[in-house]
Amino acid sequence: MYSINPKEASEKDVNKILKGTIIPRPIAFVTTMSEEMIVNGAPFSYFNIVTTNPPMISLSIQRVDGELKDTARNIYKTNEFVVHIVDRDNVAKINETAATLPYNQSELDLAKLTQVPSEQVSVPGIKEAKVRMECKLTKAIPLGYNETVCDLFIGEVVQFHLDEAIYEENGRISAETLNPVSRLAGAEYANIGELFTIERPK
Ligand SMILES: Cc1cc2nc3c(=O)[nH]c(=O)nc-3n(C[C@H](O)[C@H](O)[C@H](O)COP(=O)(O)O)c2cc1C
Repeated sequence: MYSINPKEASEKDVNKILKGTIIPRPIAFVTTMSEEMIVNGAPFSYFNIVTTNPPMISLSIQRVDGELKDTARNIYKTNEFVVHIVDRDNVAKINETAATLPYNQSELDLAKLTQVPSEQVSVPGIKEAKVRMECKLTKAIPLGYNETVCDLFIGEVVQFHLDEAIYEENGRISAETLNPVSRLAGAEYANIGELFTIERPK
């Protein structure tokens, strides 16, 4: 076994270990609104469930040389965002939105994604997603030794929108129909592979 103290390794190597081992990561496509009412969209794989009652999700957005990405800046300003699950059907278009555009330009136009109004937040979502979660910011935590490396956002889901095709009668979500895509290291992605069940011990 290699035993590595991250303080003695390069940032690049630590990055590769984390991104290559904490896999597969779900991908959130997040829309936010700028003060100029421009809808911003970008994918984030440092994303997960925090708790279910109330429904809360987390999103970690890295800063670039201490500067906030547009998504983070907009969440701080408006306290609202919409999370979409990235799937096999929308991943190619969503990848296009990861381009760094000037603050006042919308990635949704670039990727030809269609806006849909939200019910409980002012930020619109996109039509090309089988799952949309309207979120209100609960807490934002700047992190890193001097608190300028990244921002961890915890949001409460105030409205879910689910494609009828994935939502089964018993309330279960069909993983096969949702067909989510996950992020691995670098430019690698994965589909859901073989499904199997294991009962939990009593
Ligand atoms: C699949 C994928 C996942 C990503 N995950 C993250 C992430 O979790 N955190 C992050 O800061 N950037 C992540 N990025 C990079 C951002 O999407 C990228 O910096 C984007 O341009 C930010 O857009 P914005 O400036 O409009 O917020 C990811 C990119 C891709 C393609």
